[in-house]
Amino acid sequence: MFDINNILRENIKNLKPYSSARDEFQGEASVYLDANENAFGSPLEQQYNRYPDPLQMEVKKRLSDIKGVPTSNIFLGNGSDEAIDILFRSFCNPGIDNVILVPPTYGMYEVSANINNIAIQRMPLTTDYQLNVDGILNAINEHTKLIFVCSPNNPTGNSINRNDIETLLTSFNGLVIVDEAYINFSSQQSFIENLTQYQNLVVLQTLSKAWGLAGLRVGMAFASNEVIDVMNKVKPPYNINEASQQLALQALQNTEQVNSWIQEVLQERDKLIIQLQSLDFVLNIYPSDANFILVKTTDARGIYNFLVQHGIIVRDRSKVELCEGALRITIGKPEENSKLIETLKNFK
Ligand SMILES: Cc1ncc(COP(=O)(O)O)c(C=O)c1O
Repeated sequence: MFDINNILRENIKNLKPYSSARDEFQGEASVYLDANENAFGSPLEQQYNRYPDPLQMEVKKRLSDIKGVPTSNIFLGNGSDEAIDILFRSFCNPGIDNVILVPPTYGMYEVSANINNIAIQRMPLTTDYQLNVDGILNAINEHTKLIFVCSPNNPTGNSINRNDIETLLTSFNGLVIVDEAYINFSSQQSFIENLTQYQNLVVLQTLSKAWGLAGLRVGMAFASNEVIDVMNKVKPPYNINEASQQLALQALQNTEQVNSWIQEVLQERDKLIIQLQSLDFVLNIYPSDANFILVKTTDARGIYNFLVQHGIIVRDRSKVELCEGALRITIGKPEENSKLIETLKNFK
């Protein structure tokens, strides 16, 4: 049985969090002399002289409507990268605990583990980019705190079998983090709907991809109240700035625009796949549920350099385990995808 007290770091269990001025007084007042702000204003048209809401309640209320999850189950981070780091800092004892990663996958799990001095157990995906469930279950030991599964996976683009993730959720007494950064491009059901079923589930999503707000740095974690409370205790008090909160709230009203872009990306993805298949240096295009495709080629480095010379940048993943010869290509606007194809036709 999962019990958060069994995995929480002792120092975090005992942590008395920083209490900010905006935590201590909530409500409306006419004179704020509690936070050493500049009472005169900001040298800007927009006024940012006041600290933002530490718990970003307005943004969370809107997200709660969109996602169908209570605000108490939502954490907001300065990108989902911050949520990843906070999970390490909350649950993993440096030099003692370990996490399980399933490469090839998103690189920040490893970087965050290294920053926090947490050992990594690698259990590579199978050749069809699915979980080696038995390998993962056998690797779990008393110091294993987190398992990261990215679905749809970066850089391979495919979704991970739902049943396999559920096996991990039911068999593991630590946290299973399902990173759904690309879920809006997928026909798969989000694990958000399973939050009440699994106390050890953390779902990560972000406004950086389908929502088109990578520059604002707003990421989300959805989990049980207990896990969210810990993450809020550990995060820096004002981790989402006022401008990002206001703009995110504004953007979250415009679901229609985002849905229409998603449809366009999916159409462009299908078109690009067909066009790429006709190039003789393209060996394989892996099935994608994301806004990018992984393309196996005869000469990834050569193609990458050729594209750079023509002002087109893709991601060379050919040095990544199980991605030998592969380039990761983000789906762009129609004219960008056409330019890519026209340029590639000249590659010898
Ligand atoms: C799988 C995955 N998770 C998380 C992130 C980071 O997202 P954010 O911009 O919210 O930090 C990325 C960014 O590329 C990603 O590919």
